[in-house]
Amino acid sequence: MKFIEELKQKARQTQRRIVLPEAPEERTLRAADTILGEGFAQIILIGDPGEINDAAKGFSLKNISKATIIDPAKYEKIDEYVEMMVEIRKKKGLTREEARELIKDPLYLSVMMIKAGDADGEVAGANNATGDVLRPAFQYVKTVPGVSVVSGAFVMGIPNEEFGENGLMIFADCAVHPDPTAQELAEIAVATGRTTQALLGIEPRIAMLSFSTKGSAKHEVVDRVIEATKLAQEMAPDLKIDGELQVDAAIVPAIGKKKAPDSEIAGNANVFVFPDLQSGNIGYKLVQRLAGAEAIGPILQGMAAPINDLSRGCSVSDIVNLVAITANQVQNR
Ligand code: ACO
Repeated sequence: MKFIEELKQKARQTQRRIVLPEAPEERTLRAADTILGEGFAQIILIGDPGEINDAAKGFSLKNISKATIIDPAKYEKIDEYVEMMVEIRKKKGLTREEARELIKDPLYLSVMMIKAGDADGEVAGANNATGDVLRPAFQYVKTVPGVSVVSGAFVMGIPNEEFGENGLMIFADCAVHPDPTAQELAEIAVATGRTTQALLGIEPRIAMLSFSTKGSAKHEVVDRVIEATKLAQEMAPDLKIDGELQVDAAIVPAIGKKKAPDSEIAGNANVFVFPDLQSGNIGYKLVQRLAGAEAIGPILQGMAAPINDLSRGCSVSDIVNLVAITANQVQNR
């Protein structure tokens, strides 16, 4: 996608420090090698240096020597991080011994490096489940002030360029928060609008999706989308947000005109906010598989530092792309 090349170009100028905690894993090492070769970010690998260097040699990788390798068994900042962890989780009763155990996990070490200012962002998940990547981030990096919920957006490159912005659309939440309240859904809408502005540089036209368009159906779950739309419009008057809209009313001009004639968004949306995670996760995968769309993400939004989670089925280029996005999220912060 062209926008990824633009993001790499921007990232090249700032050289952010991105941690990849799953280092000896083959796709992670190959991605690190590509990123260092293209020179658009600094890479920090966590793991045993001997193991990492042997694996890199085995894969004939030429650039891994440019990475910083942190050996969790010998890292001089472990004690400092343990003290920070105990302080941050004091109310939860975290003991020093528990913190010492947790910090052995590269996923905890990564977020503590970010928290301490020793790294700028993290990409993980090639070898770990979403919950295991997110939990340390939720607990220690936490959300941006004023935001209560982290969510996950996908940039969708749709082959039919009549839709969205010449085929580009943003879908959220497709990855994190199973059952948002109206307030949380409104926050997700606003966060997705900001992600669209920051990463794609386009004006978001946000459709709050439902199985109802402007009162065509009545149900408590529709009421939640209506309430979320109102709250999101109040929270961000500068963003174009409308709902509740069905998918066809949101993106097909003739149907939008018929079902929601007064809407500025209907027929013309480039951002979809799904009512819950079931519909969001199913929705993006349907478009990816049946329409042959490219799906880049999930891009986590609302976190106080950029930490992004990969699917365990990810490819090397998925990791490279997500590092480019993560580096730009640091810049936009
Ligand atoms: N935003 C911000 N903070 C959160 C969020 C959120 N969305 N969810 C949980 N937290 C915080 C909690 O407040 C809590 O903080 P505390 O310990 O300081 O009190 C901490 O995170 C842990 O909360 P739990 O409720 O115990 O979190 P749990 O680990 O059970 O669940 C998780 C969080 C893993 C993200 C869960 O919501 C989940 O499994 N979501 C679905 C993830 C998933 O499977 N997605 C689909 C696959 S991804 C894909 O297909 C691309």
